[in-house]
Amino acid sequence: MTRVLITGRNGQLGQELAATPPAGMELRALDRASLDITSETSVTEAVGALRPDWIVNTAAYTAVDQAEQAREQAFAANQTGATYLAQAAERAGARLIQISTDYVFDGTLGRPARPDDPTRPINVYGASKRGGEESVLEILGDRALVLRTAWVYSATGQNFLNSMLRLMAERESLTVVEDQIGTPTSTKGLARVIFAAIQSEVHGIHHWTDAGVASWFDFAVAIHARAWLGGLLSRPCRIRPIASSEYPTRAPRPPDSRLDKSSLRSILGDPGEAWPDALDQVFARIGK
Ligand SMILES: NC(=O)c1ccc[n+]([C@@H]2O[C@H](COP(=O)([O-])OP(=O)(O)OC[C@H]3O[C@@H](n4cnc5c(N)ncnc54)[C@H](OP(=O)(O)O)[C@@H]3O)[C@@H](O)[C@H]2O)c1
Repeated sequence: MTRVLITGRNGQLGQELAATPPAGMELRALDRASLDITSETSVTEAVGALRPDWIVNTAAYTAVDQAEQAREQAFAANQTGATYLAQAAERAGARLIQISTDYVFDGTLGRPARPDDPTRPINVYGASKRGGEESVLEILGDRALVLRTAWVYSATGQNFLNSMLRLMAERESLTVVEDQIGTPTSTKGLARVIFAAIQSEVHGIHHWTDAGVASWFDFAVAIHARAWLGGLLSRPCRIRPIASSEYPTRAPRPPDSRLDKSSLRSILGDPGEAWPDALDQVFARIGK
């Protein structure tokens, strides 16, 4: 049995991992109350008690806009927390998967970012996540996997899908940014790949999202079509595309969040699922 410790049990990805343990793995998923990654003592005790073979760190400060004014908290979780986990993994002889983000890039390459492209975060959240990546790789070397993903959603999390469903139910029309592109990524596919990466002992830096490309506007239109056809809305909602300049946010966003997945696809022999198909599957779970 491979023992796997998962942090951030109540987050979108933490919940999905905890719900889908593959055969041959013994999972322990801990929420913040049981394992606060910003506390060295808490990390040392949890890792010491569970003696995991692998740690999957899904815990993070993920409030991207709030992070601009909460720099210390963002770095405490995303850099220092990752450092404590890597140090504890090193002492326990465990491997670590650090979940990271497309926000370590500025999104100006004009093509999907490759794992070895130079990073250049443009907001505090991205800088703090990059800090975590650097620490983990420095401490654990090839016993670490930094897995960058983007635009993560699930049926139950706080995410774009659920924000859209709420707004579509409340309003007759909605404006959504059209000039930021990426790939919506269901936690289901991401969890499958994380477990496969454990089984194949993948290390280094790799990227994973579902397959294909969309703008936030495209994603909203796809959500609306499914919500309307599925009877989740009492009347249709008109979706209008706008430019990012018409929707200012405290934290700047990269215009292009596409990630090049080829390295992990070839190691795992998994091309990933088209994002609209993954969205269909999530809709099948909504309300169940
Ligand atoms: N969501 C995205 O679009 C996206 C995109 C790219 C990368 N990622 C990365 O993917 C990973 C999973 O994201 P997600 O969407 O599942 O995030 P999420 O739903 O926001 O969940 C994050 C979890 O981390 C927990 N947490 C925060 N600080 C903690 C601490 N000090 N100790 C222990 N737990 C703590 C939170 O606990 P509470 O429930 O108590 O607040 C929450 O349950 C993160 O590393 C994130 O940076 C996410």
